Amino acid sequence: MTLATDVKAHVKLYDLHPPIDDFRAEALTGLMKQQKTISPKFLYDKSGAELFDAICTLDEYYLTRTEMAILQTYAHDIADLISDSVLIEFGSGSSQKIRILLDAIPRLQTYIALDISKQHLQESCLNLAEAYPLLETIAVCTDYTQPIDFPNIPSIDKKRKVGFFPGSSIGNLEPEAAIEFLKQTGQLLGPRGGLLIGVDLKKDRTILEPAYDDRQGISAAFALNLLTRMNRELGTDFNVDAFTYRAFYNPVGRIEMYIVSLIDQVVHLDDVEIPFWKGETLRTEYSYKYSLEEFRDLARAAGLQPNQVWTDPEQLFSVHYLSVDGGK
Ligand SMILES: C[S@@+](CC[C@H](N)C(=O)[O-])C[C@H]1O[C@@H](n2cnc3c(N)ncnc32)[C@H](O)[C@@H]1O
Repeated sequence: MTLATDVKAHVKLYDLHPPIDDFRAEALTGLMKQQKTISPKFLYDKSGAELFDAICTLDEYYLTRTEMAILQTYAHDIADLISDSVLIEFGSGSSQKIRILLDAIPRLQTYIALDISKQHLQESCLNLAEAYPLLETIAVCTDYTQPIDFPNIPSIDKKRKVGFFPGSSIGNLEPEAAIEFLKQTGQLLGPRGGLLIGVDLKKDRTILEPAYDDRQGISAAFALNLLTRMNRELGTDFNVDAFTYRAFYNPVGRIEMYIVSLIDQVVHLDDVEIPFWKGETLRTEYSYKYSLEEFRDLARAAGLQPNQVWTDPEQLFSVHYLSVDGGK
């Protein structure tokens, strides 16, 4: 069901948020697996979203500043490709990077932010709408990995649609799932559409690993916050102090992030007992890294056409523009 509410005169919120039972069911299934796993989409409650914003400002976390610098440097080239469209951002978070595009395309009329973290989405869209009062800002709280039952929004009906998927969040999906996501996104954007997507590049592990396990322990706090969230929302009894965090580069081409049990212990979810032995891991995230050609191949496998790509001088990060079906 679609519920549209005017949060403020110029932000419309469509709440398609998955019910709490989905979190319970996914957590239970993930915790019963041999390799315990919980999807990174559950990392972003209010505290998680704040901790992620703090990570983005860390020296070690080169991704945000590098991607923003690429967007700024090539804003006019990008504007040429996307200026006549409705922009749809996947995983909009604090809606900061979109401002670079909005500043380069003052005549852009409509921005649609999709995010699973409702409160953060609402606050970010309100801030954006205040800064860009002429922009039609629409917030859709949804899980973008599921087929999106996109609300009927008359003002975007016949318009060209361009997706914006920054932050290298595509790397959280395993390659097969990334292809499925890109296919689904191509269908959602429709003919003549495009997708502007930030993708982290392969590089030395001495740069990669500190980005995901910083000296101040913010990445660790971000991952461990998942346990606090489960205790609060699902009634689990994780003793957060009895777990730690680990991240490392696996040469198959991805950073792997885990919560690690410091002792033998048993955690409860409803009446289910979940044993952890000392050293056992709960995987919270993968972050795949792609060379330029590997990512272009992935896009082609999803039926999207690699069009332009921009990188920074040190080749740390890439921003690709992919065309959907005859789009520019
Ligand atoms: C890594 S942050 C990136 C935020 C921002 N786009 C950036 O580049 O800095 C991921 C964002 O996507 C949202 N998110 C994660 N998984 C999601 C999903 N499956 N569906 C919708 N939003 C999701 C999170 O709430 C968070 O705001």
